[in-house]
Amino acid sequence: MGKNSLLLQPIQVGNLTLKNRIMFPPLTTGYEERDGSIGPRSLAFYERLAKGGVSYIVIGDVAPVRTASPTPKLFDESQIPAFKALADTLHKYDAKVALQLFHPEYDVPGVGRMIGMAGALRQEAMQLKEAGDMEAFGAKMAEADKVTKEAYAKLHHDMQHFVSEATVEQLAQIKAAIANAARLAKEAGIDAIEVHGDRLLGSLCSTILNHRTDEYGGAFENRIRYALEVVEAIKEAAPGLMIEYKLPIVTVNEDGSLRGKGGLIEEEAVEFAKKLEAAGVQMIQVAQANHTGNMADTIPPMGTQADNWTLPCCINVKKAVSIPVATVGRVLTVANGEEILANGDADIIAYGRSLCCDPDIAVKVEKDEPIRECLTCNKGCVDAISSRRYISCVLNAENGDEATISIKPADAKKNVVIVGAGVAGLEAARVAAIRGHHVDVYEKEEVIGGQINIAAVPPRKADILRATEYYQAILPGMDVEIHLNTEATKEIMNAADAVIVAVGAHDITLPIEGADAPTVVSSWDVLAEKAEVNGHCVVIGGGLVGAETAEYVANKGNAVSIIEMTDKIAAQESATVLPYMMEDFKAHDVKQYVNTKVNSISNNGKTVNVTDAEGNEVAIDCDTIIMAVGSKKNVLDVEGVNVPVYYAGDCAGEKTADIASAIRGGYNAANAI
Ligand SMILES: Cc1cc2nc3c(=O)[nH]c(=O)nc-3n(C[C@H](O)[C@H](O)[C@H](O)COP(=O)(O)O)c2cc1C
Ligand code: SF4
Repeated sequence: MGKNSLLLQPIQVGNLTLKNRIMFPPLTTGYEERDGSIGPRSLAFYERLAKGGVSYIVIGDVAPVRTASPTPKLFDESQIPAFKALADTLHKYDAKVALQLFHPEYDVPGVGRMIGMAGALRQEAMQLKEAGDMEAFGAKMAEADKVTKEAYAKLHHDMQHFVSEATVEQLAQIKAAIANAARLAKEAGIDAIEVHGDRLLGSLCSTILNHRTDEYGGAFENRIRYALEVVEAIKEAAPGLMIEYKLPIVTVNEDGSLRGKGGLIEEEAVEFAKKLEAAGVQMIQVAQANHTGNMADTIPPMGTQADNWTLPCCINVKKAVSIPVATVGRVLTVANGEEILANGDADIIAYGRSLCCDPDIAVKVEKDEPIRECLTCNKGCVDAISSRRYISCVLNAENGDEATISIKPADAKKNVVIVGAGVAGLEAARVAAIRGHHVDVYEKEEVIGGQINIAAVPPRKADILRATEYYQAILPGMDVEIHLNTEATKEIMNAADAVIVAVGAHDITLPIEGADAPTVVSSWDVLAEKAEVNGHCVVIGGGLVGAETAEYVANKGNAVSIIEMTDKIAAQESATVLPYMMEDFKAHDVKQYVNTKVNSISNNGKTVNVTDAEGNEVAIDCDTIIMAVGSKKNVLDVEGVNVPVYYAGDCAGEKTADIASAIRGGYNAANAI
């Protein structure tokens, strides 16, 4: 690898020379300001990518109209300076920047007017309240609520039907708005426009979603007409800007079902790619089509899709055109990217989640250093966006806070002792060593990784081991010594200049009658294969650990029942993962008792007595009882340790069993020394 890496070779795309083949594809980040412009958080994130050597950065989901959606927006001259600051900043690193222009699949002005009307009614209501007319106030508020409800009903309706119901005039207005955004982008010094071929354009291209009977519906030529018109409009409005097209493909699942709705099946997509090239598009990014209601289709979580899973479509598109083609979708590793380029299967590699996890892919390839590979857990990125938070990778403590957090070089080199080699301790070791300290890590077990080693055991979760493998790869090259099978004594701690305690947590049990029966085992021991299970297993606690343990033992051939006090099993699980888990529960006939309270264990551990959701006392017979009722921090005795002591991870009282908190705890503790 090193400088000769294929990933680092430049490529000409239209009038742009990309200094290497590493691209950041469009990712909605949630970093933008309320008006959709690029503020400090957003700018710092993209600057960090550019600093890490990414040659081509696409700003995801830029709306060319004023919408309530939390995405970047560019529709007004007043927003030009913020986008110009972005372009100027990225150009300092010789990175090129594109805006992915999209239009939501609804009548934006129509819904906006209704929301505005509801707001005006509420204001009127407040005036009536101030005037003391409570009856009129109530009536006006009811009116406002009704209009709000109607607005959301319209939004909901449009998301399904706007593609077929939009008038030709509405489509023309949207096209003009996109062209206007392209013009503003050019004025701001942006290098390229990525046409978002999914969303409204993809819906129009789709045989599944587009039911129009006019010139934009029916035959292939009609369905792609609008997309080609949009390309033409951008060319006219912003001559000279490179135009890239995100080409969404409706792929075929293993079971023969179609995956995605808002795009084209592969044969049509290949034909469309040729037409895009003829229309002046200078680069195509081949991606999975969306619009299924489950983000897992386009952004598959760990254990559900192979690496490079969209590549077969990319290969066929590449064969059909002569312009550069990018591939996106779980490329994940440097080796994967190199192989794709070596085989000539794509010209550019888009690393999405991978660059949130490690923005330094390019510089590390050049230096031949290991990258921190994305777990595809979808927790810090996809889940965050789904719940309208900004993205923040679980493994990268700086992600999302690039403007305010960084590793500070130490004033003076110190000897740092870290107690515990779970991810909190390992991250602390990395950061302390980067700061210039000497680090000794003490781990009483024979392996590093702590809870990661059991978290990787349930179905689909082996990829989580990458979290530990990263440290295994980098720490030997740093001033870090790891002492396995060794407890950190007080003498060892006192001989250091500072101590970071990262001793984790232990699982707990329910203090109920019968909990000491021989059939009762802990979920952690089950996953660590320290406890045997057989027959009908009752898992007490349907949180994440309980649900995953249930899936694990069910897959081993046991009958399983889960008992959960709240109304949801695996409530903290990613929405992209939950359907796979529920499917597996169904396939293995796992019984789920929600709103159910465990009262006692009787019959020498062969019966669990519960109060079910209807308030009935029920006795559930079983062979094994697995406790999964949570964990509690471990406490290390540091009495008599007279050097500064810092805490990180579960033992610091941070959320137990949460990898993001562990990483951040380790990072912060090491940065604080
Ligand atoms: C948090 C998040 C937000 C995304 N937002 C967008 C978006 O705004 N537009 C888009 O076309 N794709 C979006 N995607 C899809 C990515 O561009 C990419 O296709 C996907 O993450 C698969 O690539 P990866 O496996 O390298 O992450 C998003 C993905 C993630 C994880
Ligand atoms: S949160 Fe998980 S999936 Fe998202 S970038 Fe980080 S490791 Fe990857």
